[in-house]
Amino acid sequence: MSGTLTIAGLGPGDEALITPEVSAALAAATDIIGYAPYVSRVPPRAGLTLHPSDNRVELQRAGEALRLAAAGHHVVVVSSGDPGVFAMASAVFEALEDAPQWHELPIRVLPGVTAMLAAAASAGAPLGHDFCAINLSDNLKPWSLIEKRLRLAAEADFAIAMYNPRSASRPEGFARTLEILNEAGCGKRIVIFARAVSTSDQRIEAVELCDARPEMADMRTLVIVGNSATRRVGRWVYAPRQVR
Ligand SMILES: C[S@@+](CC[C@H](N)C(=O)[O-])C[C@H]1O[C@@H](n2cnc3c(N)ncnc32)[C@H](O)[C@@H]1O
Repeated sequence: MSGTLTIAGLGPGDEALITPEVSAALAAATDIIGYAPYVSRVPPRAGLTLHPSDNRVELQRAGEALRLAAAGHHVVVVSSGDPGVFAMASAVFEALEDAPQWHELPIRVLPGVTAMLAAAASAGAPLGHDFCAINLSDNLKPWSLIEKRLRLAAEADFAIAMYNPRSASRPEGFARTLEILNEAGCGKRIVIFARAVSTSDQRIEAVELCDARPEMADMRTLVIVGNSATRRVGRWVYAPRQVR
């Protein structure tokens, strides 16, 4: 087998946030596989085949990547942000579990700047103390588990980074998320809505949770709920390093 499979993160949007390691992998690739909007971020060139696909076909996409790599291609599977954060790296390893014949393929996972970190940097330092990340999509897990994790994260006073907060097909979940956090006594916590971070559409808003409205988030938004000590300094929001 002379092919390779690389799973790479393209960062949150700005080309300057693509790591040199990922740029080198893209330059050496024969095939790019991924969700269409991410594949479109890779410029076409001679010798490179682009394989854009729809949302929610992660396992098929992963299977195709493994087949092409086994056939000798240099395949890069692209995700936005980091490929290991709610993205393609897990899908590739899931597909690999059912394909022992490909276990010896040379596979690399190249990290990228995940939306949570880019969003935090745009707002200041809201993840400067303990935090957790929750994907609010219930496509791959029951909503009851999301509710449980939200309640426990609030009780533990974590800052909470929320991916996939609200989509046209899931308009209710984020409204319920705000209700749960208000019920858990987080109404005075600062919430950051970081939309399209590092792109020309970037918008950062910070409000108290009791004033947050569901429409403030969409699928291009990363939401960070501060912990009980998170505060403002000038136009910035940060979590103090020490909590007593
Ligand atoms: C399927 S997840 C992919 C996460 C990606 N692997 C990462 O590490 O950032 C998509 C979600 O990431 C967040 N996201 C991705 N890019 C973003 C950006 N530039 N600004 C704000 N949020 C972003 C949004 O919450 C979006 O719904």
